[in-house]
Amino acid sequence: MVNPNPMLARYIEHFGEQPTVCVRAPGRVNLIGEHVDYNSGVVMPIAIDQATYAVAGRSDESIVRIFSEFADTEVQINLDEPGPPLDGWGAYAQGVIAGLQECGIHLRGVRILLGGDLPAGAGLSSSAALEAAIALAMLHLSDATLPREEIAELCRTAERDFAGVPCGIMDPWACLMSREGQVMLLDCREDDEAAQFIRWPDGDTAVLIIDSRSPHRLSAGTYSERVSECELALKKISDCCLDENGMFVRTFRDVSMACLDRAAVHMDRALYRRARHVVSEIARVIEAAEALRAADFETFGRLMNDSHRSLSLDYGVSSPRMDELATIVRGVPGVWGARMTGGGMGGCVVALAPAAACPLVESVVRSAYDRKYGVTARVWNVQPREGAAVMPTGS
Ligand code: GLA
Repeated sequence: MVNPNPMLARYIEHFGEQPTVCVRAPGRVNLIGEHVDYNSGVVMPIAIDQATYAVAGRSDESIVRIFSEFADTEVQINLDEPGPPLDGWGAYAQGVIAGLQECGIHLRGVRILLGGDLPAGAGLSSSAALEAAIALAMLHLSDATLPREEIAELCRTAERDFAGVPCGIMDPWACLMSREGQVMLLDCREDDEAAQFIRWPDGDTAVLIIDSRSPHRLSAGTYSERVSECELALKKISDCCLDENGMFVRTFRDVSMACLDRAAVHMDRALYRRARHVVSEIARVIEAAEALRAADFETFGRLMNDSHRSLSLDYGVSSPRMDELATIVRGVPGVWGARMTGGGMGGCVVALAPAAACPLVESVVRSAYDRKYGVTARVWNVQPREGAAVMPTGS
């Protein structure tokens, strides 16, 4: 976990004032349940140590100034006239401010310094962390509160409407509502999202994150394409499948494999495979939750491996390089399972292993992966952490 204190000094250097609050917004890694949050599915994320920090203070002007140490740039947003859409990370900030104002919050001018150790582009949800950090800092400094569920919803809307990514609810929920030492089991049914928590076993079990150093690109089009394919597949399934109450199915949650197979004649092969990933992944998460409750890591690991295969072969969001990294990690003695995590097309592999196996995973990654690709894949051993927190700086 990074020490945010040097950021306080850099805030003073940059803005010439004392900050009054520091927000820590963690990244997340999803253990299983990929590309199902926008399909009424269930997901199992945890918040991690790596986080984005927003060090902030009030200003007398009606302007929000945000300096990002990640990008080394500053954006300024006038609270009375938001101005033309911003590019890059500024779009997220603009979206969050618009969302807070739409909730009726009277925002005050603030200055924010963003920094931390959560890398962008690794698929660890740096954009949701940035949005949550800005939202919580703005609310605190405007003497306002909102339920965390509403903050999560407005972060998702910011991402959809301002950054153009039609994402689901998982990332802001994981960032804002995770609990120390517990895995979130998030039910993503629209307008009815709800989280349960499963205690993480003490001691010896490690979650490893291995960053392939091939950045994932969500807005590159594949993500939006998958969202549209799922909508189309569901429409075709709904036309011919009834749920257990005899009603036409309306969400993927009500689609069984038998029902999908009946609808297969109305879909081309690619569309059928997209839907097969969604239906099978939701079933895997439900089984994985039971396995975790029973501390059955062998089963959990097998489900992670199956999830990867499905994401790669049916959903088409892996890459030869991610497949290779997952295979290398999976082959290390002791490792229970490994899969790509997050949106895909690059990013990180997540693995489940006994803590004692971690040094070996790292050395195998160094010799079998780094050498071939000329990179140093970062390897993190993480534990489930608490969601975003607001800490006054004492000045
Ligand atoms: C990204 C999105 C999430 C989710 C994952 C894939 O992280 O922001 O909503 O869809 O991809 O599981």
